[in-house]
Amino acid sequence: MKAILLAGGSGSRLYPLTQVSSKQLQAVYDKPMVYYPLTVLIASGIREICLISTPQDLPRYQSLLRDGSQWGVSVVYREQAKPEGIAQAFLIAADFVGSDDVILMLGDNIFSGGDDFRRAVTGFMGGATVFAYHVKDPERYGVVEFDRTGKAISIEEKPLVPKSNYAVPGVYVYDNGVLEIARDLKPSARGELEITDVNREYLKRDKLQVWRLSRGFAWLDAGTSSALHEASSYIGTIERRQGVKIGCPEEAALVRGFLSIDEFEALIGHMPRCEYSEYLRGVASEWHRLHGEQR
Ligand code: TTP
Repeated sequence: MKAILLAGGSGSRLYPLTQVSSKQLQAVYDKPMVYYPLTVLIASGIREICLISTPQDLPRYQSLLRDGSQWGVSVVYREQAKPEGIAQAFLIAADFVGSDDVILMLGDNIFSGGDDFRRAVTGFMGGATVFAYHVKDPERYGVVEFDRTGKAISIEEKPLVPKSNYAVPGVYVYDNGVLEIARDLKPSARGELEITDVNREYLKRDKLQVWRLSRGFAWLDAGTSSALHEASSYIGTIERRQGVKIGCPEEAALVRGFLSIDEFEALIGHMPRCEYSEYLRGVASEWHRLHGEQR
């Protein structure tokens, strides 16, 4: 399975921060926002990633993420000239996706806890899998309604009167049929190619699986300055309490086996002395302890 990491958009709700830097490059506690969804992809076992952003922001992503080989993955880049909708990603990256299945991940979605995405990717059987998460303010998102047996029966984009409290987070797993569905989409009233319309098409074909994320799972939004601050505090609280980092691509690459311990340590050797590299040194020591090697 390949992955599209969508990191464009206008980020108008984060003004004036987004005058200086793209939304998905803003700091969430101790690392750039895009590290969080990127780490989810690596932890899910994805090795081929296409990052899409605006023409002005793309060079910054390229200097941050490079070709991905430092994490044992491949990252390629495509431009979205204008923010004409999330589903436009499939038109922009069609050549990259080729004949594969694809997971689309939004660059401003932050998750913590569980291994639902990895299980959804490894157990994917075709059609589409999206997720549902209980929120207080479903009207801001795509909202999914379930029948009494737990089967999804409708999905609506930003409904004025939501039919449930279950919002659809920005992680979507599709078979290759998504390319053809995206080609046939018409822009919505707000002029965008809507991801909810893609999901509705799968629902219509009875090929949509909706996976409910459990209560212990955290899905954080970082779209406004207060939400960004709250996300930073949440990540900081968990990291300080547990002494483990969330959204650390180097660590995920080591755990997944994309990097050997030697490659991992060489990578740390190129980093400046800072809390981040100190943490990674601790991860390496732990690895040696668990694998019974002394260095
Ligand atoms: P939004 O948060 O809905 O939009 P935005 O980022 O443009 O922000 P604002 O509403 O404050 O102006 O987008 C969700 C995610 O999808 C975000 O990571 C940006 C990305 N996106 C694109 O990359 N291209 C698009 O055309 C759209 C609509 C969103």
